Amino acid sequence: MAHQVIRNALVYFSPTGATKTIAKSIAQGLAINPREFDQTLPADREKRIALEEAEFILLAFPVYGGRLPSLAKDVFTQLPRGRRPAAAVVVFGNVGPGDALLELYDLCAARDFEIKAAGAFVGEHSYSSVLGRNRPNDADKERARVFGVGIRQTLFGNSVIGRELLTRAQSPSWKPSEPSQARSFMLKPRSCEVCRFCIQSCPVGAFVGGDPKRIDQDKCIGCAACIKLCPHKARTFGDEEFMDDVALMVANHSEAKQPLVFLPPNLPEYLG
Ligand SMILES: Cc1cc2nc3c(=O)[nH]c(=O)nc-3n(C[C@H](O)[C@H](O)[C@H](O)COP(=O)(O)O)c2cc1C
Ligand code: SF4
Ligand code: SF4
Repeated sequence: MAHQVIRNALVYFSPTGATKTIAKSIAQGLAINPREFDQTLPADREKRIALEEAEFILLAFPVYGGRLPSLAKDVFTQLPRGRRPAAAVVVFGNVGPGDALLELYDLCAARDFEIKAAGAFVGEHSYSSVLGRNRPNDADKERARVFGVGIRQTLFGNSVIGRELLTRAQSPSWKPSEPSQARSFMLKPRSCEVCRFCIQSCPVGAFVGGDPKRIDQDKCIGCAACIKLCPHKARTFGDEEFMDDVALMVANHSEAKQPLVFLPPNLPEYLG
């Protein structure tokens, strides 16, 4: 079905900001003023995602443990079912996208969305300032913008991308992993200015009683927003074993990865 798309919606979840940057760069290439539905904070997720008929939707999530954050399913329950063109995008921290894109494809398909394009982009890893350092960089943003131009082309035709294409994104070393979980975080009391920015940035409201020292471990999804976004660098990971795992991950994935993009085969070869 060819769609006459005059509006588009960006729906994203982005605790540390990389996914949002990529979604917005893609939107620039689409050249249609997007309506943004940022799903990162609890208050954002309470607002209704009102989509117009056949409105194009770009869905973007970070990769957690080679999958989507479990919260992605809740976001999908807010989306109206029905045929509409969609693009599925994930952002990973230079380790690999695992099966997150497949999972996103399936969630879209379950809502009857037609997948016109899919992409996996790189962002700085939530647990490291070395892995994917400063990404998305200017080249990533330009790639994302050009991907948006490609998506726009797909909206004038009938082509969709097949699920089997996305298995190419699966990293050979991928194994199913545990859902994302709370981490042991330490607060350096002398550095903390009690500005409470960490509390405001937490996507699941895991801080107890407005106190930056108290995290409800049952709620925390380990997104690291409270660490990465603290303006005074007052938080660190407190778990030595976990830091050893991160160090190993950094050592094994130091080579910079490139974005993977999937567009219908009959489009001009924009993306190499
Ligand atoms: C719990 C958790 C699990 C993650 N798992 C992966 C992974 O499997 N592969 C990877 O490359 N990056 C992984 N990352 C890194 C994020 O995908 C990456 O940093 C992304 O840019 C975060 O997006 P955001 O800035 O929009 O929050 C993980 C991050 C977290 C918090
Ligand atoms: S953002 Fe940093 S400085 Fe501000 S309250 Fe949280 S830990 Fe303290
Ligand atoms: S407390 Fe947990 S869920 Fe909240 S911002 Fe920090 S790491 Fe993320």
